[in-house]
Amino acid sequence: MNFTRRDFWKLGTSTAILISALGRQAAAQTAAGKDKTAAAQSPDERARITEQKMTDDERFSLLISIFGSVPSIGIPRDKRIPADVKNLSAGYTPGIRRLGIPALQSSDASMGVTNPGYRPYDKGATAFPASILVGASFNPQLVREGGGAIGREARTRGFNIMLAGGINLMRDVRNGRNYEYYSEDPWVSAVLGAAAVNGIQGEGVISTLKHFTLNCNETNRHWLDAIIDPDAHRETDLLAFQIAIEHSQPGSIMSGYNKVNGEYVSGNHHLLNEVLKGAWGYKGYVMSDWGAVPEWQYALKGLDQESGIQMDVKQWGAEAFTDRLRAAYKEGKLPKERLSDMVRRILRSVYAVGVDNWGPTSKVDMAKHNEIALEAARQGMVLLKNDGALPLVTDKPLKIAVIGGHAQEGVISGTGSGAVLPVGGFAGVVKIGGPGIMGAGRNLFLYPPSPLAELKKLLPKAELDFDPGYTPTEAALMAKRSDVVIAFGIRVEGEGFDNADLSLPWGQDALIDAVASANPNTIVVLETGNPVSMPWRDKVKAIIQAWYPGQAGGQAIAEILAGRVNPSGRLPITFPADLKQTPRPELAGLGTPWGTPVTIRYDEGAEVGYRWFAQKGEKPLYAFGHGLSYTSFAYADLSVGGGETITASFTVTNTGKRDGADVPQLYLTDAAGERRLRLLGFERVPLKPGESKRVTVTADPRLLARFDGKAGRWRIAEGTHRIAVGRSAEDSVLTGEANLTGRMFGV
Ligand code: BGC
Repeated sequence: MNFTRRDFWKLGTSTAILISALGRQAAAQTAAGKDKTAAAQSPDERARITEQKMTDDERFSLLISIFGSVPSIGIPRDKRIPADVKNLSAGYTPGIRRLGIPALQSSDASMGVTNPGYRPYDKGATAFPASILVGASFNPQLVREGGGAIGREARTRGFNIMLAGGINLMRDVRNGRNYEYYSEDPWVSAVLGAAAVNGIQGEGVISTLKHFTLNCNETNRHWLDAIIDPDAHRETDLLAFQIAIEHSQPGSIMSGYNKVNGEYVSGNHHLLNEVLKGAWGYKGYVMSDWGAVPEWQYALKGLDQESGIQMDVKQWGAEAFTDRLRAAYKEGKLPKERLSDMVRRILRSVYAVGVDNWGPTSKVDMAKHNEIALEAARQGMVLLKNDGALPLVTDKPLKIAVIGGHAQEGVISGTGSGAVLPVGGFAGVVKIGGPGIMGAGRNLFLYPPSPLAELKKLLPKAELDFDPGYTPTEAALMAKRSDVVIAFGIRVEGEGFDNADLSLPWGQDALIDAVASANPNTIVVLETGNPVSMPWRDKVKAIIQAWYPGQAGGQAIAEILAGRVNPSGRLPITFPADLKQTPRPELAGLGTPWGTPVTIRYDEGAEVGYRWFAQKGEKPLYAFGHGLSYTSFAYADLSVGGGETITASFTVTNTGKRDGADVPQLYLTDAAGERRLRLLGFERVPLKPGESKRVTVTADPRLLARFDGKAGRWRIAEGTHRIAVGRSAEDSVLTGEANLTGRMFGV
């Protein structure tokens, strides 16, 4: 069949895009098919053989990705992207048809396939809940399913690289991007990050893990020097990456914008060459974050691909990376072996994940994906407090006041490159703005359906009224004449901005205080990407932490309020009572103008989050791991084994009257005489009333060890190690101990 361009577009845009993508793919596959032995070869061998056949021009062409057009930040469509490529997003790397190498096309992805406004024909993807909510589900299986859904939605658009897998640890409750990460704990972050990558890569789409490493604040992130003790770094943020890599073999690691101990991570020989590729033997490729490469020499220090090349020109006034690399190569400054290595690493991931080998793309079941988004929202919302107000009484004609938070329109999302356009569009967008490069895209996005509409469906006997929370006095008048008040507190957080404090914006703390004073039967639903201080906490009856719950979030909130769903989320981050309790009461550089060099000291080292609170004897507002249920659970019959690592078994029983899910947590509390709190493992256990389950957790030995940088090895102390099975980091139910053999081990 011979198509002209005009015929092609007559097919309708989405069909045309699909055919265009499939056409490129098919051509790539035909070429690949010529190499009959390919299937029998390892990805490394295939990469070596293909790379040997390449010209230098072809090699250099793979070492960059071109940003799709982003009118809002003055980046027009780049001439190097062929005109028939429509499905543009974060990155485009031309393919090499004669060698069967497909074009590499990347898109943001942690919460769904994004479309930040420059794919007008793309009417949206499934908007999953924020990663912090997913972290609160403590459910790797669910994360994997979500990853699979993202992978499938990526494929139908021709995207073969997902910029997913954000696993930075939540070291600072002000970090604007915590909503894109899973947890403050290395083990939780690793297990869930790996599950996401496995889900995506299971669909033949490469996934990153990002942002390597210690990109734990947004404050002047391009000039941010993150200072940490290197051994403590290995035990925490790096350990999360290490374990996640072991469990999922991501095709790529995205290096962050920041420096670590004085060196930019994207050009950090120690972290990239010695740790990631050396000690851990990582075989995939390192791509930079967008605008993180001021110097070509980063290629010598472990960077394999420069992403979104226009961003570096914009950011650093730098000439194109490949031009400088070519010049360096000619001058003998970039060795041929290194050039080959960069290319082979990219090709290896292409082959290992199978992006050169896509079969026909099947139709995506969007209803099923909505179910996954809904199930995640149900499992990741956390009931923080409940003095008997929840679940709502459904068989009486209650007068319910729903107040604030745009709850008549939808639920909010975080802002920045991870924000997803849902199918059918947003319920509303309010421009917020702000300084710096991310200011233009800082928006309040609202996803339908609204919690108000969903509550009306589930509470047909109730009389529901809505007050926007425009003034506290007006809202209090409605609160006073109601039986129950449901007040929504929202805070838009996101990329490029750290939160200045723990308050709710736009006077919402005063609003909630006013309605709770007018009617003590007040329930608060929080849609935030971080802990907030809740100065009204003692005045209200119940609090639900709903995070950014995605496109099915309105439904899940209503179901939890009405008791259709039993809440089962647990906090993946410690809620401090006050910033003074945290390692950095003041955040260095906060509010300094764009471009100001900033040094943030992560002096808490390995004592991140709940570990810090335990070490300092501080009582948080809500502890890591905390979360209430409409039923109750008991733990019994603990048995603990020692030797090389700790294995603990115990029985969990649902002692209440409703189906529910618990997340018992196993902690190390003492390591041979040293008080040390570490989460060793967890399991999400759904149980019917009266039902029991035996849970067994075997600790990854690195969680019991300290890293000895001089020896380059892990060290477990000989002697008695104490453990606890708890409901949270501060609520131990069973305790036990085991003897561990003192030993040192590698990797
Ligand atoms: C973000 C990355 C993202 C990239 C591409 C950057 O601003 O830090 O997380 O993947 O943009 O959109």
